[in-house]
Amino acid sequence: MEVILKIQRFDPESTDLVSHFQEYQVELTESSTVLDGLIKIREEDDGTLSLRCSCRAAICGSCAMRINGEAGLACNTKIIDVMPQDGSPITIEPAGNLPVIKDLIVDFQPFWAKFKAVEPWLQPGDIQPEGEYIAPEEDMVHLAGVVSCILCGACVSDCTVLEVDDNFLGPAALAKAYRFSRDPRDESDAQRLAQLNKPGGVWDCTRCMKCVEVCPKGVDPMDRIMLLREKVMDAGHNNTSGARHANAFAKFLKNSGWLDELKLPIMSFGIFNIKAMIGLIPLGIKSQLTGKRPPIFHHKLSSAKEIKKIFEKVESKK
Ligand code: FES
Repeated sequence: MEVILKIQRFDPESTDLVSHFQEYQVELTESSTVLDGLIKIREEDDGTLSLRCSCRAAICGSCAMRINGEAGLACNTKIIDVMPQDGSPITIEPAGNLPVIKDLIVDFQPFWAKFKAVEPWLQPGDIQPEGEYIAPEEDMVHLAGVVSCILCGACVSDCTVLEVDDNFLGPAALAKAYRFSRDPRDESDAQRLAQLNKPGGVWDCTRCMKCVEVCPKGVDPMDRIMLLREKVMDAGHNNTSGARHANAFAKFLKNSGWLDELKLPIMSFGIFNIKAMIGLIPLGIKSQLTGKRPPIFHHKLSSAKEIKKIFEKVESKK
């Protein structure tokens, strides 16, 4: 079958240093992958097309790129699965949120710097075990998903926070931080969690789910970040607006059965945070003018007692 691939090109040696799209017509079969198409173009049509690949089996993680605007592995994405119904070309771009070196090749240096920042190695402490340390099976089974990460960078490519905040550690590094924080053989949890509580850490995720959607290995980075948040709070780090927000949210639900949206931002930012309080004034005026201001006097739902019981049950299990 005949397929048109519309590929983003960038040549660092060109004079204008501007990327552009180039279309290629290529003959492929029903079982062909996007990577098959790209390699065919490079070998038969245009030897200047640059891309990374190695295993061709979704193992090495080197062929992550954006296919029709969404990150994925070119080697395990079948052409027929991404061919637009209307016959328009399949769009191929380099992975996002990382600097482009040439065509579909991005610079992973920022990725590795953040990865390294979470100290992705076991830190067993000073007491050396006398024999082999066999970790409980349930702990390792729990970590099986996150250990499957192949460091392809698909989650980083489509992270909506990284698009606007370079300081964010990002889903790949935080998922790896969870992997070691949850490992029973690791003794440095206190330092790890204190580090992850800082700006750029676990509280900067907006839970947009993009990392979960695009991860080709089911690592589920966002859920790992949420579990890290719980660990951070359990370790006593309740001084961030994120932790205050989570605590206030739970408190309102437990006591009245629903959110007090008037007090929630005040409790999240802290009443003595003058800058944040002033920043809330335009929102308050707007909600008043549009009739969307939450009620001043918060009341309990009739089912509040039942909701409270659920909370107490969960808390007693903890
Ligand atoms: S070539 Fe190795 S993951 Fe695609």
